[in-house]
Amino acid sequence: MRPFLSVLVLGVGLGAAPYVLPPLQSASAPRASVATIYASLCANCHGPTLQGGQGPSLVDAEWKHGDTDADIARVIREGVAGTPMLPFRAALTDLQIRAMVIHVREAQESARLGTLPPAALPLPARIESERHAFRTEVLADGLETPWGIEFLPDGALLVSERPGRLRIIREGQVLPPISGVPAVWVEQDGGLFDIAVHPRFAENGWVYLAFSETGAETGSSSTRIIRGTLRGNALVDQVTIFRPAPALYWNNNSHFGARLLFDRDGYLFFSIGDRGHMADAQDLASPYGKLHRVHDDGRVPSDNPFVGRAGAVASIWSYGHRNQQGLAIDPRNGDLYATEHGPRGGDELNLVRKGRNYGWPIITYGMNDNGTPLTDRTEQDGLEQPVVYWTPSIAVSGIDFYTGSRFPRWANDLFVTALAGQQLRRLEIRDGRVTHQELLLRGSGRVRDVRVGPDGLIYVAFNGPGLIVRLSPAD
Ligand code: HEC
Repeated sequence: MRPFLSVLVLGVGLGAAPYVLPPLQSASAPRASVATIYASLCANCHGPTLQGGQGPSLVDAEWKHGDTDADIARVIREGVAGTPMLPFRAALTDLQIRAMVIHVREAQESARLGTLPPAALPLPARIESERHAFRTEVLADGLETPWGIEFLPDGALLVSERPGRLRIIREGQVLPPISGVPAVWVEQDGGLFDIAVHPRFAENGWVYLAFSETGAETGSSSTRIIRGTLRGNALVDQVTIFRPAPALYWNNNSHFGARLLFDRDGYLFFSIGDRGHMADAQDLASPYGKLHRVHDDGRVPSDNPFVGRAGAVASIWSYGHRNQQGLAIDPRNGDLYATEHGPRGGDELNLVRKGRNYGWPIITYGMNDNGTPLTDRTEQDGLEQPVVYWTPSIAVSGIDFYTGSRFPRWANDLFVTALAGQQLRRLEIRDGRVTHQELLLRGSGRVRDVRVGPDGLIYVAFNGPGLIVRLSPAD
């Protein structure tokens, strides 16, 4: 059987020509959700849950007419001559047909894996997997929505909790919250996000935090990045690394980002989501819907792609992003990977290159949350394709490459966490392409972040309940 997601060849176009946003839904387009359309046009033959009837099952992974999204879309559009499967091109727009393909993929995936019960805990103590058997061990519990985890050079673990606490876990002991962490805005997606530890932390003690804060206008908020010096259990000498203009603090609480990552050259990358204003992702004058790159003191490197372009935010490294919540560097070649929360059915892993446009919201594999179409375009010249996308969405979050020696058969694999999908995945990546995926953990709670420790073990942050779990070899 084919893998249940599509692996795509990378990037078509180069450059960053200005794009005009297409009308996402023409005024006359019907607003019916895809579930409603399915029930009225398809269910009498393919069954109410897509299990089949007079027509074949659409969830059994058997595809007589081809198993790609494009094949399924073609059958819906053109029908199958000489069978009751009539063409729907007159009844459905291309946008609706794309949404129908997502609907089919979602149903196929839940038929394959079953619907997720609430977190099944405790985690199994020993898990067999394709290449390694491993043990799971709860290192810390009782945390509230742990968001980012990062190691200090002495092997202690820093963990951020979304309500605004930063803690050290040392030798299995969870220390009291670090004092001096700025007040954070805890609404909906908001709060304390990721942590980065400066590559020369041993000399300078610098720790970077991303969080949402409220602005001058009541209820407004945005993402801010600061640097502080960790002294004992206090964060002192804080400086702002990035803060949007006051006018850009908006009255919504979604898509703040914000992952932080130092690359090998000591540049700090940080992601900020589109803040629910999707057109911003295509606007170089807005910091939203972008990946940014700065020096460790917040200055903009002179070789950033949009330095000197009139009106552009100079810290932008890449654009056309929705909400990126995972960043990692491939240890083999320095390539930068980012996971991105797509709309429903459109989660992505991207190989992020300088100055490129990743297409949101012009192209996407997803649809609106309510099952109405967003766009029928999944690719376009000049817009980058994801390395892989997940339909249905798994709510993809933190990632890390395996660089340790304790799991030799996982060398250089990418570990991917997911919230709604409650999973930890292992991806094998060869020459910028995902060649294999494996689910290592599923159904034990939302998984927010993953880090390979200096000890070569794998540390995973679960949300609801808030746990840090350590994976160690059992074979
Ligand atoms: C009147 C019955 C009928 C209706 C209504 C109908 N289908 Fe079909 N459909 C069929 C039959 C029968 C086939 C198998 C055709 C064949 O023999 O290859 C089929 C095939 C398909 C396939 C290809 C399956 C494969 O194995 O490749 C897809 C996808 C599909 N239908 C989707 C839909 C969708 C989506 C709708 C609603 C918009 C729909 N169908 C409405 C009867 C129907």
